[in-house]
Amino acid sequence: MENFILQLPTRIYFGKNQIENLGKAIRPYGNKVLIVTGKGSVKKYGIFDSVVDYLNKDGIKWFEYSGICPNPRLSSVTEGIKIARENNIDFILALGGGSVIDAVKAMAFGIYVEGDLWDYYLEDRRIEKALPIGTVLTLSATGSEMNGGSVITNEDKKQKYPFFSYKLTPKISILDPTYTFTVPPDQTAYGIADIFSHILEQYFSPTCGAWVPDRIAEALMKTVIHWGPIAYKEPKNYIARANIMWASSMALNGIIGAGKITDWATHLMEHELSAYYDIPHGEGLAILQPYWMEFALDEETINSFDTYGRNVWDINGMSDEKTARESIVRTREFLDSLDLPSHLQDVGIDDKYLKEMAENLEKRFNTIGRFKILKRDDIEKIYRMAL
Ligand code: NZQ
Ligand code: ZN
Repeated sequence: MENFILQLPTRIYFGKNQIENLGKAIRPYGNKVLIVTGKGSVKKYGIFDSVVDYLNKDGIKWFEYSGICPNPRLSSVTEGIKIARENNIDFILALGGGSVIDAVKAMAFGIYVEGDLWDYYLEDRRIEKALPIGTVLTLSATGSEMNGGSVITNEDKKQKYPFFSYKLTPKISILDPTYTFTVPPDQTAYGIADIFSHILEQYFSPTCGAWVPDRIAEALMKTVIHWGPIAYKEPKNYIARANIMWASSMALNGIIGAGKITDWATHLMEHELSAYYDIPHGEGLAILQPYWMEFALDEETINSFDTYGRNVWDINGMSDEKTARESIVRTREFLDSLDLPSHLQDVGIDDKYLKEMAENLEKRFNTIGRFKILKRDDIEKIYRMAL
């Protein structure tokens, strides 16, 4: 187990009708709220109306900025910052999925940045302060509702990078599983692939003896394997949506990464795909994750895959090597059961930029991955395996 410092500052309001607490939850942080939304789902399904009703009831003044798209753009962040500055906003509320939340985090610290905001994403700079933010989550996937991460796309530079600061962790998050009843099957599946990948990125690690995070991670994976396909087939199944929603937050709120060196190579490789081809994050992960596993499995890593096979997929009675290989097959079958693609060509990606994307990652990070360290040639190889 590695040393760690962990702080979980988000007050979670989980369950049906928790929106009733919104005004009371925001009030300690201010009285002028900027509500930020995506392309329209929250208005179509009544969540926006419900939010403003409760803010009005509690006498909280609100402004609106709508139109954040999936894989949120730097330009939309800049526009949001302008609106927040003009209206002297003191709290920003994200209504939506990870894209809206990540854009809100960028606005929250961007409001205090004088120079180029993108430099913070390029150079992992430290931030001094940020506006407090909250979320009303409508899609279970990223965990952004309970962490300090923000992933933004610079559309001009074809770059998509993460930025992290504890100062960006939401103060409050409303997690009402009924809000995810309207998420269409494909987005539900992308979300499940993302949650599962977050767990794997932290589970596969060079750190030994971290039983607490590892056994929690296994319980989360079993939850996703059981309830994910049910949420996919029965969008209004409350128990399924509730378990997937809480699994999404638990997968990336710091708990299963605490005390461990974590990998994140698959995520960084996926961000390149999204930057170049604007595909949904979870779709790219579903393609890449099993190929990364195939590449990462060797004599040094076999024990981790063996443990994964036995504890998560209940594979018994096989040799270590067979168990390890079977665990990768089971992972792919699980993703297939959600009708997720398994090849880059399935989503219209050919080999044109694979080398360039591998070079970009080398330029930005030198090597990626901590469980299995990947150099440029390894990255390109995994992309080609996935073709
Ligand atoms: O824009 P609207 O109209 O709201 O529609 C959205 C969008 O089209 C729709 N949607 C959301 N809630 C809905 C709904 N449709 C019907 N009913 C609802 N209740 O779903 C579509 C996708 O939304 P988006 O927010 O893009 O999805 P997701 O939550 O998967 O977020 C993806 C983004 O988060 C980043 C990804 O890279 C990607 O940019 N990530 C953020 C992380 C973090 N901050 O910790 C970690 C992740 O690994 C990830 O990189
Ligand atoms: Zn992710």
